[in-house]
Amino acid sequence: MNKGNLLFVVGARPNFIKIAPLCAELSKRSGLPFRIVHTGQHYDKQMSDVFFEELQIPQPDFHLNIGSGGHGQQSGAMMMKLEELCLGNAFSAIVVIGDVNSTLAGALVGAKLHIPVAHVEAGLRSFNRAMPEEVNRVVADHVSDWLFAPTQLAMHNLANEGLASRAYFSGDVMYDMILKGLELAREKSDILRKLELEPRQYYLATLHRPYNVDDPDCLKNIIGGLAGLEKPVVLAAHPRLRKNLSEFGIRANGNIRLTEPFGYLDFIMLEKEAVRVVTDSGGVQKEAFFLKTPCLTLRPETEWVETVDAGANVLVRQRTTQAILDAAGQSMSPRYDEQPYGGGNASERIVDVIESELYS
Ligand code: UD1
Ligand code: UDP
Repeated sequence: MNKGNLLFVVGARPNFIKIAPLCAELSKRSGLPFRIVHTGQHYDKQMSDVFFEELQIPQPDFHLNIGSGGHGQQSGAMMMKLEELCLGNAFSAIVVIGDVNSTLAGALVGAKLHIPVAHVEAGLRSFNRAMPEEVNRVVADHVSDWLFAPTQLAMHNLANEGLASRAYFSGDVMYDMILKGLELAREKSDILRKLELEPRQYYLATLHRPYNVDDPDCLKNIIGGLAGLEKPVVLAAHPRLRKNLSEFGIRANGNIRLTEPFGYLDFIMLEKEAVRVVTDSGGVQKEAFFLKTPCLTLRPETEWVETVDAGANVLVRQRTTQAILDAAGQSMSPRYDEQPYGGGNASERIVDVIESELYS
């Protein structure tokens, strides 16, 4: 029996959204205390604080204030501070989520200090090692003790890498979150009215993958495609996109409405009512599927293949203006009858396993 605190290691926008339902589940149960450490990977209010406030996530107990930097610098600095934190506190287990650098740092520190590590959203693979996230996923899975897979395909990927004995099918915590989030958003968000948008009369877009936004020619082509769509395109600008647009001198013109990143509730309301979502985000592809809004994904491959198999998500493989316009012009016949992402109780299943591993 281990009575110490669990430690959630979070740092980037998708981490916050994914721990919200886990924290809510833990708070319902007595005797499973937890702490949160924020690495500081994301720090703008609209990339961080807004989610703690809206989703009632307990404020982080520890801040590492690492900030931005190269991969080695950022992950290394996180590891040094996390190690110090873990040596000074008897955490019962570490929970890492998804595939960002904060995930990698948390998993490695836990493994080296022999603290059990739970990886939430395990088993995802794009099979593209050029993506920093793919490296983070593979490493996090291989050094973690409990692997919580959101889909059966993720279970299969883990088995293929010899990790079946540590794998648990939990379903997807983002599905748990959106079921609650949509109710809240309907109550609280009036973003369509604020932006003077009518349902299905606009596109919603996000872009932040280095693959798309770090190359000037490629970014120019993509912006050209979005600008030429026949309806307004709300482009919620991730700071990496905003920085690169300005550095490369690319103007988001035409039908594009460039905005700051939205809070979660406004964003899912916009996703729900859009005619289509255009994105390179992992989480946004899935949310579009949950909300039954067809999606165009500006990537050559995806980890979330179930959305493509259902006809709900089309991969736009070429980064040209014409490829985006062509994809937007094609009709789609999505099927939403199957729900490969679990039953909306992933958080319960994950906490059940952690509780039984630590307390029985
Ligand atoms: C990171 C993750 C990516 C995830 C994304 C979610 C890694 C390797 N990448 O990418 O997997 O999909 O978060 O959004 O972990 N910046 C700000 N303010 C902030 C945060 C970042 O201005 O609050 C700017 C900085 O210039 C920074 C750049 O954005 O250099 C990139 O931030 P970083 O966290 O390194 O990578 P993301 O592109 O956000
Ligand atoms: N999101 C948000 N506001 C925005 C854009 C995205 O709240 O302006 C949310 C979105 O609902 C999803 C998550 O951010 O839950 C996805 O994170 P992101 O695209 O940054 O990262 P990825 O999923 O690609 O790792």
